[in-house]
Amino acid sequence: MCGIIGYVGRSAARDVLIEGLKRLEYRGYDSAGIAVMEDGNLEVCKAPGRITVLESKLDGSMTRGTIGIAHTRWATHGEPNEVNAHPHCDETGCFTLVHNGIIENYAALRQVLENKGHQFASQTDTEVLVHLIATLYDGDIEDAVRAALREVQGTYGIAVLCEHEPGRMVVARKGSPLIVGVGTDEYIVASDASAIVQHTKQVIYLGDGEVASLTANSFHTTTIDNAPVTKQIEALEMDIEEIELGDYEHFMLKEIFEQPQSLANTLRGRIDLRNGQVILGGIADRAQDLVSAKRVILTACGTAWHAGLVGEYLIEHLARLPVEVEYASELRYRNPIIEPGTVVIALSQSGETADTLAALAETKLRGALTLGIVNAVGSTIARQTDAGVYLHAGPEIGVASTKAFTSQLAVLSLLSIFLGRRRHMPASIAAELLEGLAAIPEQIEQVLDQSREIREVTGELIDEGNWLFLGRGYNYPIALEGALKLKEISYIHAEGMPAAEMKHGPIALIRDGMPVVFIAPQGTQYDKVISNIEEVRSRGGRVIAVATRGDKNIVKLADHCFFIPECPEPLQPLLTVIPLQLLAYHAATLRGCNVDKPRNLAKSVTVE
Ligand code: M6R
Repeated sequence: MCGIIGYVGRSAARDVLIEGLKRLEYRGYDSAGIAVMEDGNLEVCKAPGRITVLESKLDGSMTRGTIGIAHTRWATHGEPNEVNAHPHCDETGCFTLVHNGIIENYAALRQVLENKGHQFASQTDTEVLVHLIATLYDGDIEDAVRAALREVQGTYGIAVLCEHEPGRMVVARKGSPLIVGVGTDEYIVASDASAIVQHTKQVIYLGDGEVASLTANSFHTTTIDNAPVTKQIEALEMDIEEIELGDYEHFMLKEIFEQPQSLANTLRGRIDLRNGQVILGGIADRAQDLVSAKRVILTACGTAWHAGLVGEYLIEHLARLPVEVEYASELRYRNPIIEPGTVVIALSQSGETADTLAALAETKLRGALTLGIVNAVGSTIARQTDAGVYLHAGPEIGVASTKAFTSQLAVLSLLSIFLGRRRHMPASIAAELLEGLAAIPEQIEQVLDQSREIREVTGELIDEGNWLFLGRGYNYPIALEGALKLKEISYIHAEGMPAAEMKHGPIALIRDGMPVVFIAPQGTQYDKVISNIEEVRSRGGRVIAVATRGDKNIVKLADHCFFIPECPEPLQPLLTVIPLQLLAYHAATLRGCNVDKPRNLAKSVTVE
């Protein structure tokens, strides 16, 4: 989705901003733009397409001013062209602004402004805001921004410059992230920490409804109603190496191969093997409320929702607590019933997904205790929940979520054991599961070793336009995740479902050579899955199985097998998903797709 970067300091803003835009590229965008000010003169340059197009358009021509703002746009209102790209300016060109989010009442505001004679150049909601600020300006840009934002409905992260106040930048946020990096005589503002980390690790997280005014050596914050706010400087938990590609060809591949390490980081310090206990500091204060909860709602979108489905199996099985899993986009609008004892847990890699945030807000308003299972430290979901558990998976840059997913599964496993132990689970069972969890990072290495073989098999199948992914029990959500991974990066159509559901319709699709991926490790439903494999084979489907190493039976039935080591059944998803991530990756690269920036997709979906 859209990205914002702003700079005020001593260096040439243009260089800092272009570098920042490149760091934001992974979020997904379709046009970009930059505005730099020198001696009270604003210069703006915009271009559709990649940052490199903008760079060649600039061609060294832009001013060396030390204050500026820039933006990557993911089109919502109006097509991705130069006019609709940000920064937007008022008619005089004295005011310019970049914006993430959506101004919901933009049409009404635009009408009022048009009635006053304003003329608009673009189709965007954003342009209305810069005209409004210009109209309300009376010698103080901060006042004008605050006054304009009081008239706005919707979500925003903005950065504003005004030629009448040359060294000042005003930024504000509501429902869209904005972080201020604090350097020496410089500030770097961004919607994403990855654009800040190379400059400084000292950051200020702007809160909802807050406005900050920045010059090279001053900073202060107020609310949009002009009440002063004191902010703390916090340390950014990110290293520059974590957001660089290193020797890998793609971030997705790097992140798939990072999973032994990212999972070790997720588990570190949280397993007490001797006592069969789990240590989760982030929810310790709420442990009693959780243990006595009557019902848990897990809410999320996309891949995180699939992790939630595994969480349902885990928490119901291991803690014997009733669980519902809700798409956040549905939960927010369906007048949810929140009774005393309802705990809502939001799962999110970015911590910024608009629907997940809205579902949390809605359920919190109705009295739910809210928890976040989030990767991005300091993100909005992490800050707006009552308690939570960080994934510590490190930054995930590839649009397709991989290592965050397995870390979500690990945290949900820990949480289930944490609750189970406090409700009824004997220490011996917990110890067995925890030993299993501790072994997962090393076991993932063994699965990753099959990458070359997975590539070869995938190569034989990539011309097939329709795939099925089938699993049962703990591996049903993994079937959904395998199908999502394949379609989002390789554009091959795929469906995932519980294996038994195939008979109720989708079996009609099966014909000679159609790839059907079975997630079929040893476990309680193994025999049932084998029957489903027979059903597919007898109709000519081509069976690819993810099985337990040493399973001789399945080798005879399947056309191709990928193996996982033995592990306790509740932990199998942590291993069975790995071959499917690799399969999707190889399918996409073999088809020449842009794996890290799939078409139309954004890393963090910050609009509805
Ligand atoms: O940042 P979040 O985990 O909240 O994001 C949720 C989904 O948008 C995300 O998982 C999406 O489905 C990915 N493209 C999956 O690979």
